[in-house]
Amino acid sequence: MIRAYAAFEPGGTLKPFEYDPGPMGPHDVEIDVEHCGICHSDLSMIDNEWGLSQYPLVPGHEVVGAISRVGQGVTRLQTGQRVGLGWHSGYCMTCPSCMGGDHNLCSSSEGTIVGRHGGFADKVRARAAAVIPLPQRMEAESAGPLFCGGITVFNPLLQFGVRPTDKAAVIGIGGLGHMALQFLNAWGCEVTAFTSSEAKKAEALELGAHHTVDSRNPADIEAAAGRFDFILSTVNVKLDWNAYVGALRPRGRLHFVGATLEPLDLMVFPLIGKQRSISGSPVGSPANIAVMLEFAERHGIKPVIETFSFDKINDAVERLRSGKPRYRIVLSR
Ligand SMILES: NC(=O)c1ccc[n+]([C@@H]2O[C@H](COP(=O)([O-])OP(=O)(O)OC[C@H]3O[C@@H](n4cnc5c(N)ncnc54)[C@H](OP(=O)(O)O)[C@@H]3O)[C@@H](O)[C@H]2O)c1
Ligand SMILES: [Zn+2]
Ligand SMILES: [Zn+2]
Repeated sequence: MIRAYAAFEPGGTLKPFEYDPGPMGPHDVEIDVEHCGICHSDLSMIDNEWGLSQYPLVPGHEVVGAISRVGQGVTRLQTGQRVGLGWHSGYCMTCPSCMGGDHNLCSSSEGTIVGRHGGFADKVRARAAAVIPLPQRMEAESAGPLFCGGITVFNPLLQFGVRPTDKAAVIGIGGLGHMALQFLNAWGCEVTAFTSSEAKKAEALELGAHHTVDSRNPADIEAAAGRFDFILSTVNVKLDWNAYVGALRPRGRLHFVGATLEPLDLMVFPLIGKQRSISGSPVGSPANIAVMLEFAERHGIKPVIETFSFDKINDAVERLRSGKPRYRIVLSR
């Protein structure tokens, strides 16, 4: 049996829950969970904000731990190896997206906490293809958040050819945003942090931003008109998106990874006239997660974490709801 923490209803507190994971599939691995980050998507799933949740729901998709068992067909991973697991726990491996290396775009992919149980547990299973070894020297305690939040903000740099000479901005300096500042700085960009928190401005400069702007002040956003090649939104709320489009240079891109539920109400002429783009993307492929881990290790990029023990899981969830964490909460054994 796997001992986990589950929500039993939308918005419910997490309670101890045991389940039988069944026989190991040939391509499965089982991970002894040592650390697991809490992503805002875990909250959205607990609350069934996206209509995807099935209860009991065991959240947790920023897992780091050691492999305890491998299926018969697993050749790339061994027991004892330290690995990470993110949003996806498996892919079909045969569709055009998978065959093209875009496993994160696979329409039959399996979500670690969607219709199956995730990493707020003593063990979690996943397909070997979705499990990535940690670089040898990477600290395990703070690595979990790289596997969802980290890859989500790193992957767009690869996908859209962000250049070191670009002026880049990040909206929302939370779990995802604080990693984005570090990645963009190491990438070589001039980095601006848009934050609604006065207190985070000084911290954003320490994390790698060169400038800060109030994300909710129309005059401040307007003062940045025509400045950025690339703006990455990590917020899950509605902001004045037309103002942000106005802050893009010609050919600039406003890219969404934050799961804003309200539809975008965008003026088209500012897109047409300056050939600007709007886009979105989900996490990243396993190959690009490995690339990101190497890049993070080389540049000393590390999630800034607050640690809670697993038995304080509901305190940790409440703290994330409060919007106060600096910057990612990690549950640790
Ligand atoms: N695309 C993907 O594959 C993917 C992967 C992971 C997560 N996500 C989504 O990304 C979003 C962020 O996740 P996270 O874990 O980074 O969340 P988080 O730690 O809660 O950070 C969100 C940040 O958004 C800003 N924000 C929140 N409420 C705001 C408001 N009313 N006005 C202005 N700014 C506000 C805050 O930044 P400031 O304090 O700086 O203003 C906050 O720190 C969530 O929607 C999550 O579901 C998407
Ligand atoms: Zn996530
Ligand atoms: Zn596929």
